[in-house]
Amino acid sequence: MTVFEFTQKLAREAGELIVDQRNNAQLTHQYKNGQELVTNADLLADKLITDSIKASYPGHHILSEESSPEAISIADLDAPLWIIDPIDGTVNYAHGHIQSAVSIAYIEAGRICHGVVFNPFTNEMFTAQLGGGAHLNGKAISVADETDLRRSIIATGFPYDKATIEPILKRVAAVLRECADIRRLGSAALDICWIATGRLDGYYESLSIWDFAAAQLVAREAGAQWGHFSEVPEGVDPQFYAQDILVANPTLYAKLLTLLQNVDYDN
Ligand code: IPD
Ligand code: CA
Ligand code: CA
Repeated sequence: MTVFEFTQKLAREAGELIVDQRNNAQLTHQYKNGQELVTNADLLADKLITDSIKASYPGHHILSEESSPEAISIADLDAPLWIIDPIDGTVNYAHGHIQSAVSIAYIEAGRICHGVVFNPFTNEMFTAQLGGGAHLNGKAISVADETDLRRSIIATGFPYDKATIEPILKRVAAVLRECADIRRLGSAALDICWIATGRLDGYYESLSIWDFAAAQLVAREAGAQWGHFSEVPEGVDPQFYAQDILVANPTLYAKLLTLLQNVDYDN
């Protein structure tokens, strides 16, 4: 089995586990830092994925939201790295919604080589290999060709911590004023994969690395431009920089970038 096949098998197994947990088990809830929801299914899926990687690839590094969320310097790693979000869209998951996914990225020599995002509730498997295009359930996908802000549907999301909400509200107002509409679907990994399929035209948000590592490759391989609407600090690899992410087709990207860089935070 190739690493890419292994990644997909793992995402499917973890997906089946979270569906089974929701349908047949008693979900328990905790709040990380008093505000961030986590269920027992998040922890079980994390364990399934990380145990399986450790068994098959004992020398590899693992960065997973639930079991190893420490910041690491990816450039300095001496072996491949796996970046995992066992459930992206936990709030949706816990409320019985169907927009949640397992996200697994495989990184070699500082480059995302494989990205797999699996929504077990819709049976949609988004996959990408570096240089190999992006696929949904095996069929090639590409970004939307919408270039008009007024006709574009833009997705975003909001942090659990309300401390930084004011500038976020200003940005939402600016985007809503200029674009056709906004979606807040509740899973950043799927939002980004939906850019890759053309279901959404643009996406922006500040995230954590496990939310977007796999989906980034899917979006890039589908023709999306990936970047940031604020400056990436010197010495930071832009592909792993989690603040102020912007994704869209290249023409719309330029327009959204101008829009987001000119938000008036004083009024
Ligand atoms: C969250 C989702 C959400 C985004 C949040 C993330 P989680 O991940 O991706 O769409 O707005 O910032 O934390 O907590 O469900 O894994
Ligand atoms: Ca997440
Ligand atoms: Ca998560």
